[in-house]
Amino acid sequence: MQTYLVTGGTGFIGSNFILSARREGWATIINLDKLTYASHPQTLAALSDDPGYQFVQGDIGDSDLVRTLLDTHQPTAILNFAAESHVDRSIVSPHDFIQTNVVGTFNLLETSRVYWEQLAANQKEQFRFLHVSTDEVYGSLNPTDPAFREDTPYAPNSPYAASKAGSDHLVRAYHHTYGLPTLTTNCSNNYGPRQFPEKLIPLIILNALEGKPLPIYGDGQNVRDWLYVEDHCNAIHRVLQHSCVGETYNIGGRNELTNLTVVEQICSILDELAPKPNFKHSSLITFIKDRPGHDRRYAIDCSKIQRDLGWQPNESFESGLLKTVQWYLDNSNWVEQARSGAYQTWMKQNYSDRSVESPVESRH
Ligand code: NAD
Ligand code: TYD
Repeated sequence: MQTYLVTGGTGFIGSNFILSARREGWATIINLDKLTYASHPQTLAALSDDPGYQFVQGDIGDSDLVRTLLDTHQPTAILNFAAESHVDRSIVSPHDFIQTNVVGTFNLLETSRVYWEQLAANQKEQFRFLHVSTDEVYGSLNPTDPAFREDTPYAPNSPYAASKAGSDHLVRAYHHTYGLPTLTTNCSNNYGPRQFPEKLIPLIILNALEGKPLPIYGDGQNVRDWLYVEDHCNAIHRVLQHSCVGETYNIGGRNELTNLTVVEQICSILDELAPKPNFKHSSLITFIKDRPGHDRRYAIDCSKIQRDLGWQPNESFESGLLKTVQWYLDNSNWVEQARSGAYQTWMKQNYSDRSVESPVESRH
């Protein structure tokens, strides 16, 4: 069986990827994760007795550690999920985003290059460096603009998006200059189990369950293109297995929805699964001050991966959202761990000064 070095594998998408990889027998996994505020080891507790899974706490920027892991485990691929990933935090404190997403990815590339260059010809041929990135590098669309394609010019607007764009450019340069066999995927907004509850969907589910306000930035008409996390993981695996080196692939669910619609759908599901007497969860919807520089619309044209690699998502937004809400209802221990520590500080910092602009009724 092959071995993958997965970075950031205790976070939302990386943990779902590792669980799929072990369930489906894709590979033995070495997970290198720093365990920032966004993750806790309990997330992959199900693999604690799995001999095909090993966790190493550390930083992708630690070249000595990465080189030791490469020499020891001789992986056929590195999958780089590690990142600072929350746009609002990148606005409040961008430094960590540059450090991990740009400098960290650079160090990982450089260590990988030096390792890859000394491999025997057949190992060199097989090796891949897959970089997991985002559609946010393309900037914001107007309502009638065509969706992002792989050749859409980069126009990142937030420090998060700019740091991911920087890392994408470095990956491209390492392929172009040194021949490192890289692959890049740019995906739309993911949702599903194990997403840290600072992001829209889990935040809304958990606030609604506790009867707290459901904060919607601005007018709630910003559009995101949602993809169920397992569909993203399958796409990444397909790119890793079948793509030519140096390629980039856009991945998306063709599920363009306004934030208000997403929140209303969560409320309807909770009205069914966790009803409260004489009370609709949507009554908690609260419009608050907008995010600075808030991108209006993202949309992915995923025809290249569908055409070249035959990838299709399995979940509709309705089926994926239902599974997601049910997962958060069933996993209160995970939720408690995620919300301990610095989470309460962040909630205060991000939400306490955003005074309510108007009640939901006036927006309909
Ligand atoms: P996440 O914030 O849930 O997880 C990131 C993980 O990386 C955490 O476990 C964290 O501890 C780890 N990490 C952070 N800095 C590190 C470092 N210096 N060294 C090692 N580990 C480090 O993020 P996510 O939502 O799982 O996103 C994973 C990747 O997918 C990111 O690169 C992100 O840009 C990209 N992406 C995310 C989405 C989305 O909707 N969440 C969409 C498209 C692309
Ligand atoms: P988020 O989950 O942070 O992902 P991203 O900013 O990477 O798209 O936010 C998704 C959308 O939801 C985005 O338009 C911002 C909005 N949003 C809110 O309206 N309220 C919130 O409390 C959060 C966290 C996000």
